[in-house]
Amino acid sequence: GESRRPIVSGNWKLNPLTAGEAKETLKLLAANQRAMEESGKDVPEVILFPPYPFVPLASEVLEGTTVAIGGQDCSLYDKGAYTGEVSVSQLASLGCNHLLVGHSERRTVFDETDAEINKKVHLGLNAGLRVMICIGETEDEFLADMANAVNEIQVKKALSGVTAAQMEDITIAYEPVWAIGTGKVCDAPTAQEVHAAVRRVIDELYPDTGVAAKVRILYGGSVTPDTIDVTMRESDIDGVLVGGASLVADKFSRIIDFS
Ligand code: G3P
Repeated sequence: GESRRPIVSGNWKLNPLTAGEAKETLKLLAANQRAMEESGKDVPEVILFPPYPFVPLASEVLEGTTVAIGGQDCSLYDKGAYTGEVSVSQLASLGCNHLLVGHSERRTVFDETDAEINKKVHLGLNAGLRVMICIGETEDEFLADMANAVNEIQVKKALSGVTAAQMEDITIAYEPVWAIGTGKVCDAPTAQEVHAAVRRVIDELYPDTGVAAKVRILYGGSVTPDTIDVTMRESDIDGVLVGGASLVADKFSRIIDFS
């Protein structure tokens, strides 16, 4: 994406097991990041999505770097008698500027619906967070040549009621379900076709606004330091959402340092 600033984001999912391990990784990441930023080269925008309990720790250890923090999900409720939930307001008050919504694990393991995802998009935007919406087809859908159709529906439903002005705060992450945690990276030209199709859908939704040319569409699914260069060469791929490799500071830093 020539004129769009790349984003490298990391989704820690339900990892690591302890705050101690999280702190070690964060300290290494912070040191790498400081060195990169002090070297004066172009650093992409970096966003880390740690598990909720590690959000304050991540903010503290990454302070002084440009790495931003986000929540991996949020409650459908803002406050009250909803035991076990975490709200967007709470995340924002802890220094989160970002919210991840609609990850395929939320959709499949927790049966999250498109309507719930859309509600979370609005909750995030209204709380002043920038929202990263995950979309992606399953392997069966991919093999049946339905990727574009599935992604189109997911994008349209997630963005229902979102204005062109609010699109400034939206990022899309295309994560083919069959490439998540499998080591099967979607090859870059195939991903590029999906990204271009998603951008066309956004152009249809927001015609004559410049939104489609500006929105960043990230790729996610088995991204590693070895695949990042090829991925970032595609014109409609504006960055990545990294799972497993973001848990290893040196790997994540090498991905951030792709350019
Ligand atoms: O959200 C990122 C993710 O689902 C990709 O995971 O482990 O394949 O990089 P991974």
